[in-house]
Amino acid sequence: MLASRNQAIQASQIRLIFNKIVGRNDIINLTAGIPDFDTPPHIIEAAKRAIDEGYTRYTHNAGYIETREAVAQKLKRDNNIDADPVTEIMMTAGGMGGLLLANLVLVNPGDEVLIPDPGFVSHGPHAVMAGGVPIPVPLNKENNFGLRAEDIEPLITDKTKLMILNSPNNPTGGVTEEKELRKIADLAMEHDFYIVADEAYEQFNFLTDRPFFIGSIEEAHDRIVSIFSFSKTYAMTGWRIGAATGPEEIIAVMTKLQEHVIAMPTSIAQKAAEAAVIGPQDCVREMRESFRQRRDLIVKGLSAIDGVELDPPGGAFYVFPDISAFGLKSYDLVMKLLEETRVALVHGSAFGANGEGYVRICYAVSRDRIEKAIAALETFLPKLLR
Ligand SMILES: Cc1ncc(COP(=O)(O)O)c(C=O)c1O
Repeated sequence: MLASRNQAIQASQIRLIFNKIVGRNDIINLTAGIPDFDTPPHIIEAAKRAIDEGYTRYTHNAGYIETREAVAQKLKRDNNIDADPVTEIMMTAGGMGGLLLANLVLVNPGDEVLIPDPGFVSHGPHAVMAGGVPIPVPLNKENNFGLRAEDIEPLITDKTKLMILNSPNNPTGGVTEEKELRKIADLAMEHDFYIVADEAYEQFNFLTDRPFFIGSIEEAHDRIVSIFSFSKTYAMTGWRIGAATGPEEIIAVMTKLQEHVIAMPTSIAQKAAEAAVIGPQDCVREMRESFRQRRDLIVKGLSAIDGVELDPPGGAFYVFPDISAFGLKSYDLVMKLLEETRVALVHGSAFGANGEGYVRICYAVSRDRIEKAIAALETFLPKLLR
């Protein structure tokens, strides 16, 4: 009796692992993409002040105008994106809220949506919820999981309506270079499709201090929606706040739909987000530096284990080592590691067929936990090679 359209939507396979370890405190949990930092105090203070000052009512469906103005400043400062806060920016319920709305606005039933594979577990389901057909675009270890325009080109058909980009990428940490982003924007203009840039890890790029953002390409402005999230950048995963920017006609329809779903993200979270972007950015720099150091620690430890292969990823807070030498499916290996070492990882196939042969390890945890996990893995894994 339930609606059939949901049958094609898979529950996140990360839950398979999560459900096995819930309530167990003997596990070194490296599964969830949750920074171990607390939300910075000045952001928390802004939220408390917002409550005291009565910012507790419905707001504009796109969010408070002063919050959008703050986001416009941030887009200029961090992303080189010029956006009108009145017509081209909206606040969303996390990046996730923006990603779904963008799909609903852009995708007609039967349209093809190109998604990175391996990629974030919700990209496919968002396309399906909009009636679209997800088409996986392979990310390859040989390019350290950076996307290349030449890998997309053969997959473009007259049904291609949208391409989802995510750089730095979850689960691989792969970063797509500026020259490839420019070529991908050219493809979108030439073949008449849209791009949704999922910028969840925009601040965690270790390759450069001034990353290039596809949303800053003026000529492709009409084709690109950029989705930002406060979850990772400001350690605000529970606040459910994000922002979307793009052409006026797309943001207008996304705002119209948002009215009928959540009306707007929580007023208090909007005020916290405003304080986050206009306040001091040292907290972001410190988190980036800390993640970079932890990346180096985990890459060094894992690379020294026989059978594990990986190059240092360019961003995010995940590593995605090749574990095919152990001769097990990634899910079976993850289950074995859970049993034998009490280290919880996510199987690469949870992120798409192309993720088979890999595991995702989130290193946004303490150095102590990373060191314990490495010690357990280096004791156990070589036994599987014998
Ligand atoms: C690539 C990517 N996009 C979007 C999201 C969703 O983030 P938010 O908490 O802002 O909804 C995540 C969360 O893990 C992510 O990894």
